[in-house]
Amino acid sequence: MYSQKLIQDVEKELENLKQAGKFKVERELMGAQGPEVSIAGKKVLMFASNNYLGLANHPEITKSAEKAIKEYGFGLSSVRFISGTETIHKILEKKLAEFLGVEDSILYSTNFMSNLGFFATIVNEALGSTEHIDAIYSDELNHASIIDAFKLCKKENLVKRIYTHGDLAMLEKMLEEDKDKGYRFKMIVTDGVFSMEGYLADLPKILKLAKKYEALLFVDDAHSIGVLGKTGAGTPEHFGLHGKIDVLSGTFGKALGGAVGGYVAGKKQIIELLRQKSRTYLFSNSVPPSVVIASIKALDLLKEHPELLTTVRENSEYFRNGAKKLGFNVLEGEHPIVPVMLGEAGKTQEMSKKLLEKGLYVVGLWFPVVPENTARLRFQISAAHTKTHIDKALKILGEVGKEMKII
Ligand SMILES: Cc1ncc(COP(=O)(O)O)c(C=O)c1O
Repeated sequence: MYSQKLIQDVEKELENLKQAGKFKVERELMGAQGPEVSIAGKKVLMFASNNYLGLANHPEITKSAEKAIKEYGFGLSSVRFISGTETIHKILEKKLAEFLGVEDSILYSTNFMSNLGFFATIVNEALGSTEHIDAIYSDELNHASIIDAFKLCKKENLVKRIYTHGDLAMLEKMLEEDKDKGYRFKMIVTDGVFSMEGYLADLPKILKLAKKYEALLFVDDAHSIGVLGKTGAGTPEHFGLHGKIDVLSGTFGKALGGAVGGYVAGKKQIIELLRQKSRTYLFSNSVPPSVVIASIKALDLLKEHPELLTTVRENSEYFRNGAKKLGFNVLEGEHPIVPVMLGEAGKTQEMSKKLLEKGLYVVGLWFPVVPENTARLRFQISAAHTKTHIDKALKILGEVGKEMKII
């Protein structure tokens, strides 16, 4: 039975969120994801999606998903180790590992689950030790799923050290301090691309530190698989480190079709341990066939159409330069996440509203999602955007910017 206190406390909390400007309103789209979407019956330009390659509604992706449903049905009604493993799961895992240049990979329902699964398994498993403490060094801006992964690790087995975003001198100082502390395993964990700025982690330097201090390097490449690198294999490939990162995690829910599905990829022994012990893998349903087959198709399309990568890069540069030329303060970068910095939360809220009224959907971010006084509009560019879409978006951005006396 719901107690009256519970309902009242929840209502108070919801009200507090509203008062603090933290209450999230979900925009309802009517129809498929694409460079243009329908919101409240009106066609608007979509610049707020992780659909970097434009595969979310690509005809070959949807066709392969439809075919998979006909052949395999809708769901598998099981976890992997009971009756939820199909040959296609193994094919996708093998293909993904080859793509990333590592020995093996394991699919999870989401990247959130794969991050939870990896750290909880490694830290909590005794693996023959009678007593053990592992140390994890984590960038302060790592994704929520990494932060929550630490909460699933037993307190007595984990020392967690958080370094200031991108501060590798601080990371090195921590590793140096901990050199003789006898930790069982040391692990450095970073996002490959940080989603609020589109900044890349300095993987070459981090990898050097990992080697020097004998720490395992874990990179969550959710925003860069299918985006960065010559073949789209992500941040490591971008830095010439393809296949050199110990453990990678990522998602099929952004560039690669945009549905769901996460993974961990790395050495075969680690992947096998996760298959045997990882609770978010063992006790959660297997990825549905339509998603598996469409994800295989997404990897194939990426190989067959490398121009998708060129297009998303050219589009990003075109938009970034265009916004700068208009006079906006734009964060530099190479990723299709292009933040236009406005500073004030109120101004950002007002601007995103005005942009939407004129037919441009872009998301505004403000404190506490980003540091105070760094509110921004986060534009996300796609290979599916044409120059006409981008020119239209820039025109609207310029008009609203002038109207609000920002430029
Ligand atoms: C860096 C990072 N890791 C993990 C995730 C979670 O991915 P998924 O949606 O597959 O759970 C996200 C998605 O927002 C992300 O940006």
